Amino acid sequence: MNTQTIDQTKLDTFINRAFGDLSAGYGGVMVSLGARLGLYKAMAGAGPISAKELAARSGCAERYVSEWLNAQVAGGYVDYHAVSETYELSPEQAMVLADEESPVYIPHAWNVPASMWFDEEKAVEAFRTGKGVAWGDHADRLYCGVAAFFRNAYRGSLLSAWLPALDGVVAQLEAGIAAADIGCGHGHSTVLMAEAFPKSRFYGFDTHRASIDAARRIAADAGLDGRVHFDVAGAMNYPDKQYGLICFFDCLHDMGDPVAAVRHAAEVLAPGGTVLLIEPFANDRVEENISPVARLYYAASTTLCCAHAVSEGGRLVLGAQAGEARLAEVFRKAGFTHFRRAAETPFNLILEVRR
Ligand SMILES: C[S@@+](CC[C@H](N)C(=O)[O-])C[C@H]1O[C@@H](n2cnc3c(N)ncnc32)[C@H](O)[C@@H]1O
Repeated sequence: MNTQTIDQTKLDTFINRAFGDLSAGYGGVMVSLGARLGLYKAMAGAGPISAKELAARSGCAERYVSEWLNAQVAGGYVDYHAVSETYELSPEQAMVLADEESPVYIPHAWNVPASMWFDEEKAVEAFRTGKGVAWGDHADRLYCGVAAFFRNAYRGSLLSAWLPALDGVVAQLEAGIAAADIGCGHGHSTVLMAEAFPKSRFYGFDTHRASIDAARRIAADAGLDGRVHFDVAGAMNYPDKQYGLICFFDCLHDMGDPVAAVRHAAEVLAPGGTVLLIEPFANDRVEENISPVARLYYAASTTLCCAHAVSEGGRLVLGAQAGEARLAEVFRKAGFTHFRRAAETPFNLILEVRR
């Protein structure tokens, strides 16, 4: 017999919470449609417009646009003027939903949960067997989604705040050094640095061939052919160029043997060189990581980061919420002696490491 009593207030609060999350999941599909169909862009700066006008501007069918607009209003993503029956995207909403160059642009990031849903059977199998799922074995939407999600932070902070927070690194990059971007993915971080420091040489490495191909295209589009090199290579076997800077952008925790990865970094780091470790923001203890940001990272970590680390042998599966203390221990085991939190944002820890 169930002797537990139900606290109706707590139940109502939690139902509201869970239903809000369910509603947000439906809303994410609408955000993706709005971005893909150019609906937000057509609204940005347009002032109040009717569904008919938006349909004409975007080349979409009015009946669908009208229903989509009402879903946006219900979620607080678009403002509604009842008297004129018009809809308006505020400048703040436009920054998040319409301006792809904005550091707070969100829509592409919805590709990540889309891929996680698509690959749910792989996750079920991984939970049951304990086997891994390699980064390259996911649905294609994952890669552009992750690259877009992290690119916001890199564009917003890498050149203006994170590199300047490192002791002497900007001066070295300005003078000209070799710099490596390990686990570079689509290489947005590499390209940003290469654009800013023309005297330095940049090398991006990743084990995922399709990401390296994408990085090469992005570098070519940026006119950086020849100044930045992308190659398929793992964190333990990329070539030694005595790098003055070695970066790990949101990837060390994905690796199956992070200690071996940073041990290799120690071997190929020039004297006086710096390792820049960017990791998802996390505190050291689970009870300190109760927030929407931590929830997102723990979830991605479950089916993506941990699954990949296991697929690489899983000697140490850090997960995306490792926290500074566990990250510092990885570097200590690999022989590094200097480890400092140089900066932080709500989304990232920025750590400076030296031998
Ligand atoms: C979460 S993504 C981050 C990509 C990129 N640094 C960014 O910030 O957008 C992790 C990347 O690490 C790469 N990776 C995982 N294990 C690796 C390894 N052992 N050596 C090199 N790259 C690896 C994956 O292929 C993937 O591109």
